[in-house]
Parts: sequence; structure tokens; C-alpha cells
Amino acid sequence: MTDLAQMPDSPQVQTGARPVIEATGIVKRYGAVTALAGVDFTLYEHEVVGLVGDNGAGKSTLIKVLSGAVQPDEGEIRINGELVQLPNPKIAHSLGIETVYQDLALFEDLSIAGNIFLGRERKRFGIFLDHAGMTDFSQDVIRRLKVDVPNPKTIVRNLSGGQRQAVAVARSVAFGTQIVILDEPTSALSKAAADQVLAVIRDLKDHGLSAIVISHNLEHVLDTADRIVVLRRGQVAGVLDRNAATSHKVVELMVGA
Ligand SMILES: Nc1ncnc2c1ncn2[C@@H]1O[C@H](COP(=O)(O)OP(=O)(O)OP(=O)(O)O)[C@@H](O)[C@H]1O
Ligand SMILES: [Mg+2]
Repeated sequence: MTDLAQMPDSPQVQTGARPVIEATGIVKRYGAVTALAGVDFTLYEHEVVGLVGDNGAGKSTLIKVLSGAVQPDEGEIRINGELVQLPNPKIAHSLGIETVYQDLALFEDLSIAGNIFLGRERKRFGIFLDHAGMTDFSQDVIRRLKVDVPNPKTIVRNLSGGQRQAVAVARSVAFGTQIVILDEPTSALSKAAADQVLAVIRDLKDHGLSAIVISHNLEHVLDTADRIVVLRRGQVAGVLDRNAATSHKVVELMVGA
């Protein structure tokens, strides 16, 4: 009998786990450039996948396809086993997919709670903003995710880069999200701030979520991801289980050694 858990190079460690995203044969061309040349990508429940590759490998394009921002020329996407079309980010949201982009887009002059509820404010009697309710809910979100910030009323301008990034992650998961996609969540952060954000990402799994993390920092990827998907020139160069992955192996796949 074959025991997959004892095969160190097998990417199939999630045997028995349910796939939440199954993308097959994804092709995206920009004129003469083929950004994605037939990519298969799977994300399982309660899993963090690190997506790595050299500049121009196709990481952002793949993420945009999965978040509905870019339409593939070919390929199929299944979410929770169902074939879907993602013609825009709104539809992706409605299927539980949230993307946190590198520029964050938090509003500096609003509080943490104000940012978490931006665009989905709670009202009382249909007129008054329910500040107390929104503050309590936000407190609950940041406590659950162990986000290290003073309190939900703190104005975002007064937060550090790491705290902002953590708030952006908290906001993305606050409302029925199943899958979080993070593009370079730790770039430009100090070691301590990056560690905090990585801890928040690891905690997502305990709350039943799955995540895709793009990063050029291999240490951060090895520190967070359960599996690592390496893209090279629009193709999957390899998939490594965390236990089998070293930065040396990842770099070899990235450069095609
Ligand atoms: N809107 C676009 N128009 C034309 N070409 C594009 C467009 N977006 C991406 N590309 C091309 O597709 C390829 C993949 O780009 P992509 O942004 O997905 O790479 P990446 O892996 O995210 O790189 P980086 O690490 O530099 O962010 C590149 O050759 C890029 O020039
Ligand atoms: Mg990119």
C-alpha cells in the first residue's frame, strides 16, 4: 500500500482534503505575450499555498484570473467543485474570494472599524450608523485573528505598516470569505511587522479559510505555506510540499536549473 504521507516529494499531502479552487488549462495571452500557457492550479480547504516565480512568470495574472479581474482565453475554474465564470471581481466576491492587493487601499482618516465596514455600513432603524455594533464586530474580528492593534476606534493613519497590512487581511476575511488572495503582503515591512502579518495568515486556516500568498521573499513563503507552486514563463515549473521544500529547490524550479 502506498502511503502518500511518506513520499517526501509528493505534492499530494492534502489527500482527502476538499479542493476549493480547481483551475485547469488556464491560458492568458496579451498580444504576442503568453502570460499563462496552460496552468493547472488547486487550492484545498484549510490550506495556504505560496505562489512564487521570477518577475513576469505570470503570478499576478493567475491571481487576477482567480479574482475575476482578468478573463482567461482558455481554461476552466471550479469553486467548491462547481464550474464557474468569473467575469468581474464582484462575482468572485459573491463566491467568497477576496483579494488583498499590495497597495492595500485602506482609508487613512477612518478608524479600523470604519475601514472594516467601508461600503457595508450597519445602520440602526435604517438611518443611523450603528457605531457601537460595528466597533464590537470589529473588535471581535481583530481578536479572533489575533491582530495586534490598539482598538477598533484607532485611526488608520496612526498604525504602523504591519498593523495596516494586518487590518487589510482582517477586513478581507470579515464577511463570509472562504478564500483570501494576498499579493506581496509582507513587502516593505520590517521583520517584526512581517512576522505579525505571517501569523495572521497562518491563523486564517484555523478559521476555516484557505489562502494564496504571492511573495518574492522565500523565507516568508517557507514560513507560511503548506504547498508552494512555482511558476516559470507562464507554466507550473513544480509544486512542492512544505516538508520537501528548501529555498534551494524553489530557486532551482524558478530559474529552470
Ligand atoms: N495588461 C498586460 N498587458 C500586456 N502584457 C501583460 C499585461 N499584464 C501582464 N503582462 C505580461 O504577462 C507576463 C506575466 O506578467 P505578470 O504580471 O503575471 O507576472 P508576475 O509573475 O506577477 O511578475 P512580478 O513578479 O514582476 O510581479 C509578463 O510578460 C507581462 O509583461
Ligand atoms: Mg506580479
